[in-house]
Amino acid sequence: MLQLVDRIRSECTQQGKIDNCNDCAPNRRGVCHGNIEQLIRSFVETTLKHNVIESMFMEEVAPAAHRIAHNQAHMEIALQLKEIRVVFSEDGNCVLAIEGIDRIHQTLQAHFTDYDQQLEIYCSAALATQL
Ligand SMILES: [Fe+2]
Repeated sequence: MLQLVDRIRSECTQQGKIDNCNDCAPNRRGVCHGNIEQLIRSFVETTLKHNVIESMFMEEVAPAAHRIAHNQAHMEIALQLKEIRVVFSEDGNCVLAIEGIDRIHQTLQAHFTDYDQQLEIYCSAALATQL
């Protein structure tokens, strides 16, 4: 997922220089717009799949308090992803979409630390009891 974030960011060479794709050269815009749209779609799908898989593991190994908080955090990630898609489909401005990607990148990094690492501990503990 973080690799996809890097790829999305690197597609746009005008980040920080312009506020809207319409200010970019048309020949450049055509290519990177399509690439960014495809990469954002992959990123959204991969992140949502990742969340579903984690939720399945949680059912087996994590206490209720963790499951509730972790699933709530996944809902917030899904909402942020939806916002990016809405912004992108409304005006196709990749610059804005990438700003959304930057925000979700921060959210995901905090999520890994706050929730996913703990889930890994629960999974390892559950595995250890089965060995
Ligand atoms: Fe998670």
